[in-house]
Amino acid sequence: MPIKRVAVLFSGSGSNLEALLEKLHNKVFNGTKIEIALTITNKKDAGGIKRSQKFGIEPELIEHKDFDSREEFDEALVRKIKKENIDLTVLAGFMRILTPVFTNQIKAINLHPSLLPLFKGANAIKESFESNEPRAGVTVHWVSEELDSGEIIAQKSFEKEKKMSFEKFKEKIHKIEHEILPETVIKLLCEKMN
Ligand code: GAR
Repeated sequence: MPIKRVAVLFSGSGSNLEALLEKLHNKVFNGTKIEIALTITNKKDAGGIKRSQKFGIEPELIEHKDFDSREEFDEALVRKIKKENIDLTVLAGFMRILTPVFTNQIKAINLHPSLLPLFKGANAIKESFESNEPRAGVTVHWVSEELDSGEIIAQKSFEKEKKMSFEKFKEKIHKIEHEILPETVIKLLCEKMN
């Protein structure tokens, strides 16, 4: 049976990493098995570390602060990902700007908590909540050299309710993220044409 090897990079709580592990790890879709073969974090106190360990996967710690330049950090990520023969890399709350050293060598997708091209950057949920846009949502896109700007693969949106609290809004965004990211990975790796 074909096996597709996935790497997941994270910096924070890792709820999306956990959704990927729960829904995809060692599971078969259309006759193809998905294996989360590698997890990497750049933060030694990231909540996702425990979530990864819970599934028996010890995350690689590659701390950006140990490198003199973004390029050298990216080179270390690339080396590790290539060594593990990864088919698809997933950025799930990986809060680093990547250089062409990474983007030219690694086939990667990114999860972003807004309807891109709206609200690029690190404060998307708050900016989307506070905006006058009638709808909000989540995007999965290919990673390219320009931040949050690669080709869009999938989006899910919902109508904003005037009375919704910020907490409820965030919850709704995360719930959608936990669905759209695993779904997109399956689509990319296990659909017939692959
Ligand atoms: C997610 O909301 C993800 O969309 C966002 O970080 C969060 C990570 O949550 N990513 C970005 O904002 C990228 N620009 P998690 O650690 O619980 O998965």
